[in-house]
Amino acid sequence: MTDAHLSLDPAFEIAPVNRRLFGSFVEHMGRCVYTGIYEPGHPSATPEGFRGDVLELTRELGVSVVRYPGGNFVSGYRWEDGVGPDRPVRLDPAWRQIETNRFGLGEFMDWTAKAGVEPMMAVNLGTRGIQEACDLLEYANFPGGTHLSDLRIKHGAAEPYGIRLWCLGNEMDGPWQIGHKTATEYGRLANESAKAMRLIDPGVELVLCGSSNSQMPTFGAWEATVLEHAYDAVDYVSLHAYYEEDGDLGSFLAAAADMDRFIASVVATADHVKARLRRTKKMMLSFDEWNVWNQARYEGREQGGFEEAPALIEDTFTAADAVVVGDFLITLLRHADRVSVACQAQLANVIAPIRTAPGGPAWRQTIFHPFALTARHARGTVLRVEPRSPLLDTARYGEAAQLSAVATLDDQGVTLIAVNRSAHEALDLTADLRTLGRLKLAQTHLLEAGADPHATEAAVVPLTNAQLDGGQLRALLPAASWSLIRLAFTGS
Ligand code: AHR
Repeated sequence: MTDAHLSLDPAFEIAPVNRRLFGSFVEHMGRCVYTGIYEPGHPSATPEGFRGDVLELTRELGVSVVRYPGGNFVSGYRWEDGVGPDRPVRLDPAWRQIETNRFGLGEFMDWTAKAGVEPMMAVNLGTRGIQEACDLLEYANFPGGTHLSDLRIKHGAAEPYGIRLWCLGNEMDGPWQIGHKTATEYGRLANESAKAMRLIDPGVELVLCGSSNSQMPTFGAWEATVLEHAYDAVDYVSLHAYYEEDGDLGSFLAAAADMDRFIASVVATADHVKARLRRTKKMMLSFDEWNVWNQARYEGREQGGFEEAPALIEDTFTAADAVVVGDFLITLLRHADRVSVACQAQLANVIAPIRTAPGGPAWRQTIFHPFALTARHARGTVLRVEPRSPLLDTARYGEAAQLSAVATLDDQGVTLIAVNRSAHEALDLTADLRTLGRLKLAQTHLLEAGADPHATEAAVVPLTNAQLDGGQLRALLPAASWSLIRLAFTGS
């Protein structure tokens, strides 16, 4: 067993907890939309054809914002196909699917209202450009009296949708992307699209595509170039990252240490551009695709025939995956001063916390639990925790702290979330909470992967050994585990 220590102090503020960190992603990919969130005729279907069971699980998950409609899909998408009465059936070359367009912008906006989430739209900067992005924005957000805004009204939406968050394309650095561009080509196109979009609706918040992942050969240089072109016109630069076990559990459990470095590198690059341009505006980050994804098992889509809603990357997650997902959320919260939006990819069926059977039930995967509990209990202000932790030496990610932790402070109490990243060794954690006032233990939750990391079920049980005595919290964190401890103020 090893020891770790942390100290909480209300003065150690990082930033307010931004609800947008608990985002998700719905792409027209596989069965995320069709038979995922949308299945007319399903026993739980709403009159609009939305799966009621999935809506309920989405609310339980605590999702705040949902990115749509892609992903790689958006780079060949014509948004007009998904509005109004005529819905052409099209090929989707990105995922080799048949897209029926039965679900489009209007359906998505109705679904977000029912799910109680904020929409985050992506425009196609692959096969399309400034005009189509502006047309979509006018259709969505302009009140009325123009051809496109009146068309929206004719299609049944009298009020403008008022969509604030817009992604300027998707993964435009990736050679696989339809309409892939060099950094200079994309930087200029994104800048001009952003300027034109702001002329139509000055209230939009715009996300510039960063790298598809930190292993891209152009990583760093891409961010620097696209930001040089578009710094003044955008609010966020994006990050995407997927992690998998790949036969080395020890490294996998420390994957969030890599996410941490990735964020720090993008912050450094954005601040470097800020200095070169002599700007005062701070560029914020949108981590708008993150998750565990067993890509080693993914065969690719080069060979697949064109099918309607094929079952694509429906990974079954394990207990270890859930611990790692919990650690990603800790990491995102710890960077709340720079990461303002984060979307787990994706919401239903496609590497998702929610799975469904067509015509049948919907269920929670292991990764559902740390997301739902973090979204529910992390509120108020994120605090630095000043950890002292042993280090792990991992083959893939080098040195990583054995303890990963974050805390949040609100009017009613404190939430401490911690992961023990060691595959084999328990961690004896002490936390000094004396500066916070009188607290009592309110709830504890433990998800353990040590005994059977590859189990596809993961029970969340109380962390029964947690004790609070004289403002000192003590808890034994089992190997490969995620814990959440909620403490409430006692008043006097
Ligand atoms: O989420 C699955 C895919 O991963 C998305 O379409 C793409 O943006 C990323 O490469």
